[in-house]
Amino acid sequence: MAVYKGEVSTLPPDKSISHRAALIGALASGVTEITNFSGGFDNQSTLEVLQACGITLTQEVTPSERSGSVRRVVIESQGLWSFSRPETPLMCNNSGSTMRMFAGILAGQPFDSTLVGDVSLMKRPMKRVADPLRLMGAGVSLSESGTAPVEIRGTRDLRPLIYELPVPSAQVKSLVAFAALHADGESRVIESLPSRNHTELMLGLPVEELADGRRAVVISGRRPLEARPFHIPADPSAACFLIALALLVPGSEILLRDVCLNPTRAGYIDLLLEAGANIVLENVREIGGETIGDIVVTHTASLEPLRITDKAVVANIIDEIPMLAVLSACATGSFDLEEAGELRTKESDRISAVVSNLERLGFLCEEYPDGFRVKGRELEVSGKVNIETFHDHRIAMSFAVADRALEAELDISDREIIGVSFPNFFDILEELKA
Ligand code: S3P
Repeated sequence: MAVYKGEVSTLPPDKSISHRAALIGALASGVTEITNFSGGFDNQSTLEVLQACGITLTQEVTPSERSGSVRRVVIESQGLWSFSRPETPLMCNNSGSTMRMFAGILAGQPFDSTLVGDVSLMKRPMKRVADPLRLMGAGVSLSESGTAPVEIRGTRDLRPLIYELPVPSAQVKSLVAFAALHADGESRVIESLPSRNHTELMLGLPVEELADGRRAVVISGRRPLEARPFHIPADPSAACFLIALALLVPGSEILLRDVCLNPTRAGYIDLLLEAGANIVLENVREIGGETIGDIVVTHTASLEPLRITDKAVVANIIDEIPMLAVLSACATGSFDLEEAGELRTKESDRISAVVSNLERLGFLCEEYPDGFRVKGRELEVSGKVNIETFHDHRIAMSFAVADRALEAELDISDREIIGVSFPNFFDILEELKA
């Protein structure tokens, strides 16, 4: 069996932080320089919609000895109202973050606009976008089933809002924050389960800890936002696939450099440590409000099965669950997940996508509305097994890891979809192969 060893300095820059850096750059007055911007398709979609709305930006890719290539994006804007009416519907492709977060900005602009996406994005729920924006005074219409096209009648007269998130969603929290920057007065977004907090950190928004454990992000509308530089750390959600691979494959040892370890993103590492994984965090430091560090991961023969049943944990590891499920199934033959109904609204229905593919590999699974259970492996499947990605990058990469760990012969449909977040995924796997 191949062994995976070595140092990785070429992980993709964080997808969530890249989106926000570009959007905040377009909202700020002055020149925003973003270094180490992600070349993933989703982040490129954000740049494209900004350009379609008249924002001036340049992107250059320079070769780097340490990290392959580095992308530098420079955005020039006059501030909150620098956007112009797009001539055609804005194509967000596969990127839910682009569609949802940009909707918040468009709601505050004095023109009409429409957001559309690819087949997967056109099925995802957008009522969560429309509800708060309507309360703030924007017009928003959706399809009959509450999905895109998202048609926005923006207004310069947005009202401030106190809004409690109905679902733990950083995208919704951020879209309300972006809209609230345009409103005349102070808004608050309240969350009872902590979701990723990059928007509050990057905008420097005050966060109140309420007596009942909820948190309120406070947004003062129409305050001048000055441009500032951003440097994007590596994506922990991408790191997760390589960590799983090293844990599963005997003899492997990998060092991942400069990964974002923000506590609202790194819950999966805590979970793996509790399960006995050989993971060590080194060189941990803080840069621009974000915790960053190196991850050393070594093959672990005696991993405990993962059991995830706490809503707050689910919110913290929402993007890593497919990989954790496949990892736990491959390493231990079992896995338990509850309170994760949100997974059905991602790039695919990730509960049914993981279950159906694990079943093709011979695992016994039981599916519930909000989770699933893996109860062992009935038989080792031999010969070619078709894996259906459902046009979902994280499903494709989770099963590409299983392919190597089980030494199976998996035929993964639509593999190019990994480019959404991790274009060099297969290149890194090849480089690490000892
Ligand atoms: C994201 C938030 C999460 C996550 C998505 C990126 C973000 O979605 O699944 O990949 O950048 O804010 P929700 O906030 O809708 O859970």
